[in-house]
Amino acid sequence: MARAEFVRIMFNDISHKYDLLNDVLSVGTHRLWKKSFVRLATKNSPKKVLDCATGTGDIAFILEKEGAQVTGLDFSEKMIDFAKVRGGERNSQVNFIVGDIQKLPFQDKEFDTVTVSFGIRNVESLELGLKELGRVAKSIHILEFGQPKNSLYKKSYFTLLRAYVPIFGLISKRGDAYEYLIASSEQFPSDEKFIAIMRANTKFKNYRSIPVFGGIAYMYSAWSDE
Ligand SMILES: C[S@@+](CC[C@H](N)C(=O)[O-])C[C@H]1O[C@@H](n2cnc3c(N)ncnc32)[C@H](O)[C@@H]1O
Repeated sequence: MARAEFVRIMFNDISHKYDLLNDVLSVGTHRLWKKSFVRLATKNSPKKVLDCATGTGDIAFILEKEGAQVTGLDFSEKMIDFAKVRGGERNSQVNFIVGDIQKLPFQDKEFDTVTVSFGIRNVESLELGLKELGRVAKSIHILEFGQPKNSLYKKSYFTLLRAYVPIFGLISKRGDAYEYLIASSEQFPSDEKFIAIMRANTKFKNYRSIPVFGGIAYMYSAWSDE
């Protein structure tokens, strides 16, 4: 099975437990990370924002609260179904649609900015995904797991994460999926390596990487105007 199909089915399967699992995995800290990520993405008060790999809509709802007109896109139909239910509960105007980051159904530079939170790591062709993000938006903001620079910290963190996997298996019945997610976090290019890939596939003037929690995750930005 192609990696994209494995990922799509995996997120369909865990969609009903996704929000709970996020809280368990991060001990609630993902909410703080997401808020500071949106603060960074909305620094220049973008009017029209695309949130790709939106999942159940966490980032899209925070963006909307900040005053943006938001479209949320994800290739897992079930994650989008949950996002729509959550949107209905909070009277949200976010437009949730099913779609693939690698083939975005939008015009060139249609959005002031595009956000991707914990989604880019799973895109089958990272290069194609980044090209599409850079095509449809005037700036890009990405939050993604990576590896801490300090080797002792890195080893302890991934050992702790692996100890969690059986808990995910119990809650989601897809422990294998979380093993994949941890392995992909351990290998995914982070910090300057990711910035180099962004540079090679997009055409912005400025690129920046900010470590979160010593490099467990990173916030990446690419933009042209100050
Ligand atoms: C870990 S979740 C992140 C959800 C949300 N952004 C958050 O931060 O909670 C990753 C999401 O990326 C989506 N995804 C992965 N590859 C994708 C692709 N090529 N196009 C669109 N969505 C994709 C998955 O379906 C899943 O909902």
